[in-house]
Amino acid sequence: MRPWLLLPSKLAHDISPYLLNAYSRFKSLDHYTWEPFEWKGLQFSNRLGIAGGVDKNGENVEAWWTLGAGFVEVGTVTPQPQEPNPGKIMDRHVSAEALWNKMGFPSKGCQVARSHLKALYQPHFSPVFVNVGKNRNTPNEEAAKDYIYLIDHLHEYADAFVINVSSPNTKGLRDLLKPAQFKAFLSPVIEANQAKSPVRPILLKISPDMEQSDLLSIIDTSYELGIDGWILTNTTSGPRNGLPFPDEGGVSGRPLSRLSKQVLKWTIEHLGDRREGKLIVSCGGAMSSEDVFFRLQLGADLVQAYTALVYRGPFFFRQVAKAAESTRIFR
Ligand SMILES: Cc1cc2nc3c(=O)[nH]c(=O)nc-3n(C[C@H](O)[C@H](O)[C@H](O)COP(=O)(O)O)c2cc1C
Repeated sequence: MRPWLLLPSKLAHDISPYLLNAYSRFKSLDHYTWEPFEWKGLQFSNRLGIAGGVDKNGENVEAWWTLGAGFVEVGTVTPQPQEPNPGKIMDRHVSAEALWNKMGFPSKGCQVARSHLKALYQPHFSPVFVNVGKNRNTPNEEAAKDYIYLIDHLHEYADAFVINVSSPNTKGLRDLLKPAQFKAFLSPVIEANQAKSPVRPILLKISPDMEQSDLLSIIDTSYELGIDGWILTNTTSGPRNGLPFPDEGGVSGRPLSRLSKQVLKWTIEHLGDRREGKLIVSCGGAMSSEDVFFRLQLGADLVQAYTALVYRGPFFFRQVAKAAESTRIFR
C-alpha cells in the first residue's frame, strides 16, 4: 500500500517533509549497520544514502538519519534563493517506476541551508554531503565564483562537497562539462577548496548522457585536478523510450538504471589502479536491494537513491538492511 502515489506527484513531494519530520520526532536515531565503511575519516554505517534533491535545504537530515540512511546529501544549494522553473516541474509514471522533473534548483539559498546545517547534531550521526550549484542567472564564465562562494560559506558544516554541473534543468549548465570549459571551471573550485581548513573531500556529479569518450576525458581531467570522487549519475535527458514525458527535463528511476550502471562500469574500468582512495557513488535507478548490492559488486563504494524512496517508500533503507543481513555476500 503506497497511499502517497494516489496524490499528484508535486503535492506528495511537498507534504512528505512534514510527515518525515513528524515521524522522526517519535523515533530515535537508528543505525542500520551493514558493510560499514570508512573513507577519509568519515564513518558510513551502511552503503545506501539519499541522493541530491531530496532534501534541498537541509531541513530533514535528522529524519533521514532516523530512517537509517548511511549518508545524506543536502542540496542542490545555490548562493542566492531562487524559485523553481515555471510550469509543471515534476511527474511520475508508476508502472515504469520513473520520475520526470525539471525543477531547476529551487533553493532557499546558502544562508538558510547554512543555518540548518549549523543546527545539526554534532558529530554527524552519518556523513552529510552538500551538493552545490550555480544560480540560473549566473553566466557560465562566472560559474566558478558561485561554487567557491558556497564552499566558503558551507565548508564548516559539510563533510564533503558535491559539484553539480550535470543537472539538465539549468540552461547551459551541462556545457561546463564540455572539454573547452571544464578545466577552466573546475580548477579554481578545487584550489579554493584546498585552501580551506579543514579541506573537505570534493566529488563531481556526472551526467549519464555523455559519449563514452567525453565521460572518460572528464574523469581524467577531474582526476588530474585532484577531485576526490564521482557521483554517477544525475537524471537523463536522453530518449524517453515511449514514456509520455516532455523532451525537456530529466528522467530518473528504473529507466535510468542500465545507463547509470554502464557509466559506473566504464568509470571503474577506465580508472583501474587510479581509483585507490577515490570515492565512487552509484546513483540512478537503484530500485531494489539486489540492485544496490549489484552496484557494490561492480565496484561502487556507496549507492544513492531518490526515485526508490517514492516507489518503495521511506523504509527503503530498512528493507535493504534486512536483505543485506540475509544475503551471503554481506555477512
Ligand atoms: C524531483 C527530483 C529532484 C532532483 N533534484 C536534484 C538536485 O537538486 N540536485 C542533484 O544533484 N540531483 C537532483 N536530482 C537527481 C537525483 O539526485 C539523482 O541523481 C537521480 O534522480 C537519479 O537517481 P534515482 O533514479 O535514484 O532517482 C533530482 C531528482 C529528482 C527526481
